[in-house]
Amino acid sequence: MTLRLNHPVMIASGCGGTGRELAPYLDLDGFAFVTRTLSRDPRVGTTASRMAEAPSGLLNTLGVHNPGLAHFLDEELPWLVGAGAQVFVSVAGATLGEYAELARLIGRAPGVAGIEVNVSLPDPGGAGIFEAREPFHAASAVAAVRRETPSDLPVLAKLRPDVSRVVEAARAVVEAGATAVVVGNAVPAAMPDGRPAGLSGPAIAPIALRCVSEVCGRLPDVTVIGCGGVAEAAGARALLGAGAVAVQVGTALLRDPTTATRLVADLQEDQ
Ligand SMILES: Cc1cc2nc3c(=O)[nH]c(=O)nc-3n(C[C@H](O)[C@H](O)[C@H](O)COP(=O)(O)O)c2cc1C
Repeated sequence: MTLRLNHPVMIASGCGGTGRELAPYLDLDGFAFVTRTLSRDPRVGTTASRMAEAPSGLLNTLGVHNPGLAHFLDEELPWLVGAGAQVFVSVAGATLGEYAELARLIGRAPGVAGIEVNVSLPDPGGAGIFEAREPFHAASAVAAVRRETPSDLPVLAKLRPDVSRVVEAARAVVEAGATAVVVGNAVPAAMPDGRPAGLSGPAIAPIALRCVSEVCGRLPDVTVIGCGGVAEAAGARALLGAGAVAVQVGTALLRDPTTATRLVADLQEDQ
């Protein structure tokens, strides 16, 4: 199974809202849009302050706040599909059984383009999510999803940007059936008051580039999507030059929601 994208720019999980918020700035038709991470049941997430600025970056501790899969399938997915988006549903479960159940339900939903398995939350324990500490944990979650997903739907595995383990993790999830790997997520960090958080934005671009370079260099047959700190064409080109087939854009959209459109146009000029 191969991953088919219309162009090499995707909307990263959690940074495009439900799609409706982005729509005034971005034509979603044909755009690969990753939903925020969904769990089976609604989750209120973190109730204390959730975001803070860091030098050249953003800290967030959302705690997998989401309305639950049923709400998404009934209320959000039809709109996204109607807008023409290529919808990848991001999932995380408290258990491997929940990952499997999510995949079973999403696999039957009309219009879904793929599933992104989030095995890279910066603070899974705090959020009550299955902790993919070791590569085999990440592989178990991916295997649970792959087993329940129709064979023609791609399964992406979103990995932690941990330079020392990312190659091993990529190998493990691909052996478990991932179609492609997303490298990576926000970097584990802390809010100013010390609570666990994820750091994103330009500050993590060099870390993402290192991780992508390692995975592409060591596992040349693996399909890699780069994610972390992309805001300009130069950053996207660096990840693509290292071997990624596409990039995901997250934090930059919060600052300028037209970023993804601009990136597509800039990269098209390269061709
Ligand atoms: C506000 C916010 C919410 C996010 N929500 C999710 C999420 O629900 N699931 C997920 O896998 N990643 C989530 N992320 C991480 C992004 O998808 C992305 O992997 C990360 O921020 C690194 O890319 P960036 O530097 O371009 O933002 C979130 C990031 C931010 C800033």
